[in-house]
Amino acid sequence: MKNIQTFKHLDDLDTESKYLVHKAKDAAHIAYAPYSKFHVGAAVILDDGTLVTGSNQENSSYPLSMCAERVVLYTVATQYPARKIMKMAVVAHRKNHKELVPATSCGACRQVMSEFEERQEQAFEVVMHSASDEWLKCTSAQDMLPYAFKRNNLID
Ligand code: THU
Repeated sequence: MKNIQTFKHLDDLDTESKYLVHKAKDAAHIAYAPYSKFHVGAAVILDDGTLVTGSNQENSSYPLSMCAERVVLYTVATQYPARKIMKMAVVAHRKNHKELVPATSCGACRQVMSEFEERQEQAFEVVMHSASDEWLKCTSAQDMLPYAFKRNNLID
């Protein structure tokens, strides 16, 4: 995939990314994930420096559960509609474990991130921990979802 940088260690990332990872970790601790026991946290920084966080919220009716990324994105859209997202970090840990485990955003979240970039007419960076135990920094959410379904698909 294009425009994705990889880093062996979290310390190799820029200061803002590390700060967001740290805040995403805090958010993961307050996830509601009694079914999967997989706690995800997402943190975004807005163009005025505001920090917004979210965590996954599960439900006994499993498909109603919501990923951390979409929780934070929809919070931004409702609480800060005039602001632009500059960067997002996503992390995960298992219940009762402190250490982070790899978690790269699901396709549904990438689709939603992609449309947020369109809405704000600006890309935002996404920092995640890959299955190959590297930190990824993507320049744009759209780069993580080639051939995405777009709003102009609906116009005939
Ligand atoms: N989850 C997220 O919050 N973000 C993702 O990108 C992938 C998965 C959540 C959903 C569910 O609560 C749990 O992780 C296990 O899939």
